[in-house]
Amino acid sequence: MKGLILSGGRGTRLRPITYTSAKQLVPVANKPILFYGIEALAASGIREIGIVVGDTHQDTRDAVGDGPRWGVTVTYIQQEAPLGLAHAVLTAEPFLGEDPFCMYLGDNLILEPLAPLVERFRTDKPNSQILLARVPDPTQFGVAELSGDKVKRLVEKPKTPPSDLALVGVYMFDASILRAAKAITPSARGELEITDAIQWLIDSGHTVRPHVIEGWWKDTGKLEDMLEANRIILDRLEPRSEGTVTDSEIHGKVVIEPGARVVRSTVRGPAIIGRDAVIEHAYIGPFTSVGEAVSVRNSEVEHSILLEGTSIADVGGRIESSLIGKNASIYRTQGKPQSFTFMLGDGSEVGLI
Ligand code: G1P
Repeated sequence: MKGLILSGGRGTRLRPITYTSAKQLVPVANKPILFYGIEALAASGIREIGIVVGDTHQDTRDAVGDGPRWGVTVTYIQQEAPLGLAHAVLTAEPFLGEDPFCMYLGDNLILEPLAPLVERFRTDKPNSQILLARVPDPTQFGVAELSGDKVKRLVEKPKTPPSDLALVGVYMFDASILRAAKAITPSARGELEITDAIQWLIDSGHTVRPHVIEGWWKDTGKLEDMLEANRIILDRLEPRSEGTVTDSEIHGKVVIEPGARVVRSTVRGPAIIGRDAVIEHAYIGPFTSVGEAVSVRNSEVEHSILLEGTSIADVGGRIESSLIGKNASIYRTQGKPQSFTFMLGDGSEVGLI
C-alpha cells in the first residue's frame, strides 16, 4: 500500500503567509503540518509516499527531503495547476500504478491513529474507505449521506447539507479511483472533485465503506483553524526544558528547546519555545508556539504562532490570536513625531487597539 499526500493547493485563505511559503509548511507546535501527515502514514506501515506539489514545490522538497528520517521514500509529483483532488490523483497515476493507496490532504490533522483503518482496508479490500467526522458547519466540506453502514450519496460543499458528516481529508482507494477520476467532469468551481469520483464509484456498484472518526480532526486552511490545531497539539506535548531559564517562572506544560533562553519572564503553558529563541522580560501565555531564533523582549504574547526569526520588542498591550511570518519585526518607534510605521505584505492584517 502506498501513501499519497496532496500539497499542491495555493492556500489563499492564509495569505500573506502563503505568498512565500506552502500552507502545509506552516508550523503547528513548531512542526510543519505536512510532517504530521507523513508521520501518520509512516506509523501505519506505509513505506512509499508520493507528495503532489505545485508552485511551492521547492520549499516542500527542501523541508521534507527524501524521507529517511521517517523511514520512508518520498517521490515528488508535480501538478501543473491546482485543478482538484481527483486531478491530483490522475497526475500521480505513474507513481500509484495499480496499487491501493491512502490519500492524505497535506493541510489536514487527525488524531485518530490510521494503522487500524489501513489494516482493515488491506484485509477487507473494499474499493474505497472514507473517513467522516461530525461537524457543526458541514457546508464547507464534502458531506455524506449514509443509509445504515452504506454511503448513499456524497455532495461537495452543499448549501443544504443532507447530514453533519463531513469528509475528512484522509481516503483509502484501490486502482478503481483512477477510472472514476477519468470518468467525471469538472465541478462548478472548475475542479475535478474527489467527492464526485467517489460518487461515481458508488453509482457504478463499487464498495465504498464509511468510517466515522471519534477523535479530533482539523482542516487548517484558515487562521482560526490553524490556531485551534496549535492549541490541541500543544496540549499534548510532554513538558521538558533543554534551554536556560533565569529569574523566570514556568507554569504548566512548556517545552523549551536547546539553545533557547528565558530571562526575567513568565511562560504559562501549554507553550513551546523554539531552539535559540530569546524571551526576555516578557510574558508568553497559553497556546503559544515560539519558533526557532525568535526574540520576544518587553512584550506579551498569547495564543499565537510566531515563525522563525521574528522579533517582538517593547510592544505595549498583549499580542493575541496572531500568526506572524518568518523574520517579521514588531517594535516600538522611539523618535518624534510618534507614529505607527508599517511595511506589510499584500493581504496583511493589523488589528490596533
Ligand atoms: C476538500 C474536499 C472536501 C473535504 C475537505 C477536507 O475540500 O473537497 O470534500 O471535506 O477537503 O479537508 P477543500 O479543502 O478543497 O475545500
